Amino acid sequence: MMDRQEQLKERFAQAGQGQVFAFWEQLGPEQREALCRDCREIDLEEVDRLVRTLVLSEAEESVDLEGLEPAPYIPHPEHGGDPQPWEQARETGEAALRAGKVAAFTVAGGQGTRLGYDGPKGTFPVTPVKGKPLFAVFAEKIKAAGERYGVRIPWFIMTSTQNHEATRSAFEEADYYGLDPEQVEFFSQGRVPAVDFEGKILLAGKSEVAMTPDGHGGSLRALVRSGAVEKMKAAGIEVISYFQVDNPLVRIIDPEFIGFHLLKGSEMSSKMIPKAYPGEKVGHFCTRKGRMLVVEYSDMPESMQEQRDEQGQLRFIAGSIAIHLFDVGFVDRIGSGSESASLPFHRAVKKIRTIDGKGSEVSPEKPNGVKFEMFVFDALPFAGNPVVIETLREDDFSPVKNARGVDSPETCRADQLRQWTRWLRAAGVEVETDESGLPGISFEISPLFADTEEAFLERWETLKLKPALKEGLVLA
Ligand code: UTP
Repeated sequence: MMDRQEQLKERFAQAGQGQVFAFWEQLGPEQREALCRDCREIDLEEVDRLVRTLVLSEAEESVDLEGLEPAPYIPHPEHGGDPQPWEQARETGEAALRAGKVAAFTVAGGQGTRLGYDGPKGTFPVTPVKGKPLFAVFAEKIKAAGERYGVRIPWFIMTSTQNHEATRSAFEEADYYGLDPEQVEFFSQGRVPAVDFEGKILLAGKSEVAMTPDGHGGSLRALVRSGAVEKMKAAGIEVISYFQVDNPLVRIIDPEFIGFHLLKGSEMSSKMIPKAYPGEKVGHFCTRKGRMLVVEYSDMPESMQEQRDEQGQLRFIAGSIAIHLFDVGFVDRIGSGSESASLPFHRAVKKIRTIDGKGSEVSPEKPNGVKFEMFVFDALPFAGNPVVIETLREDDFSPVKNARGVDSPETCRADQLRQWTRWLRAAGVEVETDESGLPGISFEISPLFADTEEAFLERWETLKLKPALKEGLVLA
């Protein structure tokens, strides 16, 4: 009888992927087991399907633009929206929060290659004075919201194999950034092997497959597979507030957003910002044949991106900023891949660290293979009653993506300072700034002091002795 390892080798050979075991004879027992562990994670049928459709097929991945329309959205009161539904939404959202129906969820499994920071991205220092890491900012926002609504808001964090242990340790070393450890739950996302242009699975070492995380869209199946969805259901959670690890401005707990989502019976809701200019590199909320979808900037022809309506406003104006709410039952359905409602994979041609026929490491100078990823917004066409609301960019979105230039630590620091400056000015404090609203000094307001302008005004009012605004001031 064949042992388990031999059976595995046999299955890979039959699937045309026997090269994964090319160095088997040179491996010791532990290395063999390590390789087999990687292999057991691989769904060979899935890989075969991905190779046939995304690697060997001549057909270019393209989006069907036929019948594409701009998606409707609920305009923000500051941009002409009717304030009354926003008030109603807020009440509904607040009631759901007080009833403990909302969980926070961060996707933090990415590799953060553009930022080039050594460590989980959530540990990257972002605040202007104290250099608090992204995770600390989120933790304080979650704590502040919990105190406001009299509940302990659970926080789920998706990691990947590469950063899971480092993420956990960072939380332990930082005493969970002031949260109750019981409140925070980590789980790792799935992985898919990278392949060469012939569809052969690549090795990262003699006993290691070149595995890569399955994209932020992998979060839906990871929520199910890890048991997080079951835990949420047991705890009476109905709404998952999804955000990315790189955006410290995000309003993680936003009662109006939650309210609209619940009032409309939406299974997946999203925030949009009006695009700043036609070529801005964000996805566009659209509809086609009655379903909502996001069309990436790279998939929409320039002529379409430049179209304007009668008022001269961009037609496809609704830019996606990767902030969503999910109904727990919807995640359960999509994440289990039932009703043939599973997310598609996309291909990304990349330089993949691998080994050559002799087992020596190769650092390719040009792309040598394909990675497969799912995108979270691909869940939209499956969602019932999807809602899009407008948000103010300056109050919700300033990601740290690149080491320099746009969406970098520098722009994010400036956006945090501009936001706090607006709050101070609203309270009647004089702040000297340049034309963009950026002050010449650094200071910092912790979410525990105030997490919105409204909260700031209330808190500021209660201070008998108002601190002078000066370089290095920290309101905590
Ligand atoms: P990005 O698209 O910015 O990718 O992820 P990235 O991997 O972090 O950075 P680059 O492209 O290598 O520079 C957006 C969000 O989705 C998460 C990231 O952690 C980030 O919060 N993500 C991305 C995952 O959780 N898993 C993935 O497989 C990919």
